[in-house]
Amino acid sequence: MTRDKITLLAGNAHPQLARAIAESIGIDLCKVTVGRFPDGEIDVKIYDDLRGSDVFILQPTSPPVNDHLIELLLLLDTCRRASAGRMTAVIPYFGYARKDRKDEGRVPISAKLVANMISTAGADRVLTIDLHAAQIQGFFDLPVDHLYAKPVLIDYFRSLDPKDPVIVAPDMGGLKRARAYAESLGAQVAIVDKRRISADKVDWEHIIGEVNGKDALIIDDMIATGGSMVQAVRIVKEHGARRVYVGATHAVFCGDAVHKLAHCGADGIVITDTVPVHEPLPERFQYRSVAPLLARAILAIHQSNSVSALFDKV
Ligand code: R5P
Repeated sequence: MTRDKITLLAGNAHPQLARAIAESIGIDLCKVTVGRFPDGEIDVKIYDDLRGSDVFILQPTSPPVNDHLIELLLLLDTCRRASAGRMTAVIPYFGYARKDRKDEGRVPISAKLVANMISTAGADRVLTIDLHAAQIQGFFDLPVDHLYAKPVLIDYFRSLDPKDPVIVAPDMGGLKRARAYAESLGAQVAIVDKRRISADKVDWEHIIGEVNGKDALIIDDMIATGGSMVQAVRIVKEHGARRVYVGATHAVFCGDAVHKLAHCGADGIVITDTVPVHEPLPERFQYRSVAPLLARAILAIHQSNSVSALFDKV
């Protein structure tokens, strides 16, 4: 079977990103409608012929995560039943990722269940960016191309011409990512020692490493409520950082996260468009697109070229 034809289609999660990727590759988006039946069930219809095609389905599982996940599953099922040659689920933001292990009794491993659902629906491959934990790749028994937003975000940090920079991980889980940025920028590393005292109490008061008098760049995989980042900015400032900048790949932004970040004392905030942002962003926010990165990866997969050789990785 040949897969000369490349098809890019998208659900409702992020049409702007889908259009930007299509434009970057130089193709039209596949015609598809993803609507709702009167009872709220999701209705999918694809209008273009998919037989034998190399199909890429763009759908971050961003909020409303359950709707976007089911849309992705139904799109995969539709493509499989339409005899697509190969299906790659392009999931720039993989939701449910934070529940990746049983850290207490009687809780699910949601990330594993979601991986199973995507595989069962028919995905042959997965393309994603900055998983919450890289080990989630192993939850799929399929090839997973795991990209990093670092090449997209690091230019912003370089443009700041930071003096004596230190990259700060807002928790222990972010150390590897912080090290990768530090290596590229010739910076030191520090970690906010976030300790959970009880179910509803977290202690943020300690930093491992030196930030006094330095330009601190706090980098995280995602910002949801903004609580972790706001606390990280506070503690880094209290420990004497000169300027404080914030970066995150996935701007999930729930509740009043934008307002909180805008008033947390950070000198600048940079995020990518793996997830759509539905409100205007204040001036100090910088929005960088992952569309060229995803377009290059999609073309590399389509042409059976190396993806890891193309991109700087953590
Ligand atoms: C935690 O492990 C993650 O890396 C993020 O720090 C966290 O999920 C952000 O959530 P929020 O913005 O709600 O504090």
